[in-house]
Amino acid sequence: MQHIPVLLNEVIKSLNIEKNGIYIDGTFGNGGHTKEILKYLSSNGRVLGFDRDPLAFKSGKKINDSRLLLFNDVFSNILKYTTQLNLNKKINGMILDLGLSSFQIKNSKRGFSFQKNGPLDMRMNPLLGFSLSQKLNFLKEEKLSKILKNFGNEKYAKKIAFLIKKYQKKKPILTTFELVKIIKQAVPLKYPFKNPATRTFLALRIYINQELKELKKILNISLKILKPGAILAIISFNSSEDRIIKNFFKKNSSIIKVPMGLPITETELKKRSKKKIENFKKIKPTKKEINTNKKSRSAILRFAKIL
Ligand SMILES: C[S@@+](CC[C@H](N)C(=O)[O-])C[C@H]1O[C@@H](n2cnc3c(N)ncnc32)[C@H](O)[C@@H]1O
Repeated sequence: MQHIPVLLNEVIKSLNIEKNGIYIDGTFGNGGHTKEILKYLSSNGRVLGFDRDPLAFKSGKKINDSRLLLFNDVFSNILKYTTQLNLNKKINGMILDLGLSSFQIKNSKRGFSFQKNGPLDMRMNPLLGFSLSQKLNFLKEEKLSKILKNFGNEKYAKKIAFLIKKYQKKKPILTTFELVKIIKQAVPLKYPFKNPATRTFLALRIYINQELKELKKILNISLKILKPGAILAIISFNSSEDRIIKNFFKKNSSIIKVPMGLPITETELKKRSKKKIENFKKIKPTKKEINTNKKSRSAILRFAKIL
């Protein structure tokens, strides 16, 4: 089994790597993007890698490269580390490759996949908090339905939530296949998605790992840690994430409109400007990449330059 890094060349090109620079890989995973960045760095360059998954961290620790500093933490805590290391506003670029690695999806014990039976866990860090199976016991039907609708765009959210709660009156849902079975009762087979559990699994994973909150936090943090001219590159895999990134880039690249005729100096305008980033771009994988790596089909890379 292998995790093929998505949009690798595009990420490297967008980062425009400075050989003595300091880079952050906020989603280290199997180190695919990190290893490539390291190839472009001199002995003075550094990569700070973060992953909340203890298994990703453990396997990353085997990489023997003194230029790589690895941390087992969520990326919303990055500011804590850059402050300790006195690196705020000194980072040359950051890559975030959101979502799950192939190792996480394919390991049935992690409970991420609706195609493999395993404990219904879905935590990126199984050592912290409650598993999805436990959390589901406390979720009210209405809240559950909202999660499925808002995070997964699930048309049958209400019915799925109702059937989950009905099932739980008899017993807790302990495995992925128990959940898949319940979803299949709620979603008509003619529904055009490959597996009717796709959207529910995505929504519950986003919920249990607080993925959208994490994303919003790191976007704001990026403005505090990246230096002027640095590149922020983010790969997302679903519309909720992409919308947050797009809106953040838009909001922070707009200039305050001054009414015609109002006397204002250029310095004053700069001071009042909301513009913190510029040149944001969007890239999707080529057909060739999608053919060799199916996982890349929903990927969108957005990157921008910090001012
Ligand atoms: C798609 S994989 C990254 C793969 C990596 N770019 C590579 O090429 O090997 C995403 C990784 O980010 C981690 N992750 C997701 N959200 C995170 C967060 N908020 N903080 C830290 N790590 C996170 C996951 O545990 C997973 O290992």
